[in-house]
Amino acid sequence: MSKQTILVTGGLGFIGSHTVVELLHASYDVVVVDNLNNSRMQVLESIRRTSGKEIDFYPYDTRDEKAMKEVFEKHPNIAGVIHFAAYKAVGESVAEPLKYYDNNIYGLVALLKQMQINGIKAMLFSSSCTVYGQPEKLPISEQTPLKPAESPYGNTKKMGEEIVVDATKTGAFKAISLRYFNPVGAHPDGFIGELPIGVPQNLIPFVTQTAAGLRKELSVFGNDYPTPDGTAIRDYIHVVDLAHVHVKAMARLLNNEGPSYDVYNVGTGRGYSVLEVIEAFERVSGQALPYHFAPRRAGDVVQVYADANKAEQELQWKAQYGIDDMLRDAWNFQKNILDETHILNEKES
Ligand code: UD1
Repeated sequence: MSKQTILVTGGLGFIGSHTVVELLHASYDVVVVDNLNNSRMQVLESIRRTSGKEIDFYPYDTRDEKAMKEVFEKHPNIAGVIHFAAYKAVGESVAEPLKYYDNNIYGLVALLKQMQINGIKAMLFSSSCTVYGQPEKLPISEQTPLKPAESPYGNTKKMGEEIVVDATKTGAFKAISLRYFNPVGAHPDGFIGELPIGVPQNLIPFVTQTAAGLRKELSVFGNDYPTPDGTAIRDYIHVVDLAHVHVKAMARLLNNEGPSYDVYNVGTGRGYSVLEVIEAFERVSGQALPYHFAPRRAGDVVQVYADANKAEQELQWKAQYGIDDMLRDAWNFQKNILDETHILNEKES
């Protein structure tokens, strides 16, 4: 059988780049479209180094119909699409909502149209546990009711899922939405990982940059939450585990198994508080992390963790990495890219 080709949008981003590596390991051919808006060309070389394989790359935007037409024409054997290309900063989405709707919604619709024109039968959509808000009951299963979105970013994930559902109803293709909990870590080989441009908004990159001396001190947002140690709880998931679930979910679609649309939670099923994350970091790095308590961050929920049984049963996928692995690999990557991070931060200021 000839190799199947997967188109990955946003394939140079954090989750995208790790997924490309796992697709290559699983012997797919990979075509990446990434407009480099929040990613960098060097990642292409890092993917090559980590996987030992080549990919086809186009610096295009999925909203550019002509450009996307060219990609599909050049690769008539594309069997499935994994759509990562989107903005993801909650605060920025509140300040610039139309930028988010334009990229995340219009970008999705334009891609779906191209898929339909080109007869592509399978698509994975990157969604987020943000669609659940703070649920009444934990753990969060796929049956947990969705809450109104707290931000334009969250709304693009909720609306994106709805658009994908409606599009599958025509029978043109099958799709799966993967609702990620908190993706963290880096590839264990240390070449690819999360590279936030400017001051990191998320916990783990802030922790590793603080330990590396790029930030003075971590602010722990809130220590008066109704949790055992007072800090908020999240279900952190190693990005390589996350990459694997994409390979499994894509295989399910390409084998024509399951309904025309489905959704899976992607987490470990175990929550960790911010203080537990700090403790784990100190354990794996052997160094103390400077931090102080600060007020709660607006829009944060108290605690979320996944019921990930559906993915285990139907996709035969289960998270393999624990919190120590996540922090070890994130730290290892941070140490490798220290000089580069300095340059990025200089650019920002
Ligand atoms: C955030 C987004 C979520 C998005 C995800 C993508 C919000 C409200 N949610 O999740 O929609 O899908 O990123 O990566 O922004 N923390 C600190 N100090 C820091 C940074 C974070 O204490 O400097 C705490 C937060 O308050 C939170 C936990 O660490 O309790 C995790 O925060 P973060 O990594 O930003 O992820 P989420 O907010 O869960």
